[in-house]
Amino acid sequence: MSGGSLAKTAASGGASMLPEVLAFTTSLAEDMALFSADVVGSIAHARMLAAQGIIKKEEARAIIKGLRGLHDRWEQGTLTLPEEEDVHMAVERALQADIGDAAKVLHAARSRNDQVALDLRLFLRESAKNALAEIATLVRYLATRAAASTDVFLPSYTHRQRAQPISLAFLLAGYAEAFTRDLDTFGFALSSLSRSPLGSGASSGTSLPIDRDNVRAALGFDALSGSAIDTVGDRDFALDYAYATSKLLVHVSRVSTDMVDFSTSEFGFVKLSSGIAMGSSMMPQKRNPDLFELLRGKSGKAIGGLMQLLTTMKGLPFGYNRDQQEDRGPILSCAALSSAAPKMLALGLANVEFDKERCLMALTSDMTQATDLAEALVSRGVPFRESHGIVGSLVSMCKERGYSLLTVPEADARGIDPRLTAEVLATADVAKAIDRKASPGGTSKARVEEHLTRLLAAADAAERAHAKVPALGTLVPRLSEDVS
Ligand code: ARG
Repeated sequence: MSGGSLAKTAASGGASMLPEVLAFTTSLAEDMALFSADVVGSIAHARMLAAQGIIKKEEARAIIKGLRGLHDRWEQGTLTLPEEEDVHMAVERALQADIGDAAKVLHAARSRNDQVALDLRLFLRESAKNALAEIATLVRYLATRAAASTDVFLPSYTHRQRAQPISLAFLLAGYAEAFTRDLDTFGFALSSLSRSPLGSGASSGTSLPIDRDNVRAALGFDALSGSAIDTVGDRDFALDYAYATSKLLVHVSRVSTDMVDFSTSEFGFVKLSSGIAMGSSMMPQKRNPDLFELLRGKSGKAIGGLMQLLTTMKGLPFGYNRDQQEDRGPILSCAALSSAAPKMLALGLANVEFDKERCLMALTSDMTQATDLAEALVSRGVPFRESHGIVGSLVSMCKERGYSLLTVPEADARGIDPRLTAEVLATADVAKAIDRKASPGGTSKARVEEHLTRLLAAADAAERAHAKVPALGTLVPRLSEDVS
């Protein structure tokens, strides 16, 4: 794009269109993200038109060669597109400037309404492909780090109060579990995207003898979209993508909050390496967790984008409406965040070191093994409500006399209840308390190991799904092969 006034072609309202109206309504700047998708879609369309005898083979060849030339120049950063109402008009005009009248046959049996529906799907499909890879890498990182963190113990939290002893392995695997659900959600968004809309035309199909399945197969979509009138007004695939991104960012945000909190002097559980910690412009002593704060802060963009899309769509009549062009902002920001957030979180976590001693101290100083003692009494026949009361009194006594559950003398404990034997008190040992919770989903080493296997399997499956999606960059040369 160069500076200067916007073009006023017939398709953009003609010469009578007021320049300030065109300037206000153009989407060209944001549309540039769709450039590759637009070219790929047009190449597939031209091939199909030629195969169906709707345009001549020489025309298709000239169009495809011209589009490929534009794409090459775009990749090299040397393409200047004419200023137009949107990317579709700009590409068509640039093509016409390069190849002349042959460009005029390209838009047969197509409207910008089904064209933009196609471009958005191709663009988000590429984003979903990238997001699956980045989230899988994050899951793999967390699982690998968890496997090496079975001997770091820290408290779990409920109500942001120290609750029970857990291993760092258990916590990291827990983070990863949330991200495997994001893999599922992006998988769903991908299937909702994988419907080829081209051939729907402006709102009701076309009388020309097109072959929609030819375009679908060339572009690697699973199926055709259904009703033409629904297709041109449907942005559910973008809503699904924005929801998937919002949920991913909520998970990223919650893990980030843990890191922000853990890095405070109050917690002191982690140290941030100098590669990610940032200073203060005024306070020389500061090491701030800006990366994690911004990962948390950026969730607002995704969630806001989802709300914006829902709001734009909710009152629209059936068929295409220009309001839909406002999908661009949320789609672009969600596409960027869905890869960048998991990638940067993995990088951030790789620059976080846990302080084993501080973590352990937080556990024992707050008697987080109390539930373990209560359960030890239950397994010796004491009703839980009674054991809860006994251990409650033990905890109060320890606080008064300055003991921890590991140091309380047996005689003092028996003074509260004779069933608090040395054997029962021994269950306060942190490592044993953690290993004893072998219920499915619990903290024991065996359960965590099983969990890690499942996490790695989920990462493998996501990487296979990623590999199955054709990359836009590979479609351009593949579809430019000679038109038979
Ligand atoms: N720029 C439009 C969009 O992004 C493309 C479709 C416009 N269709 C039209 N008839 N003006 O939604």
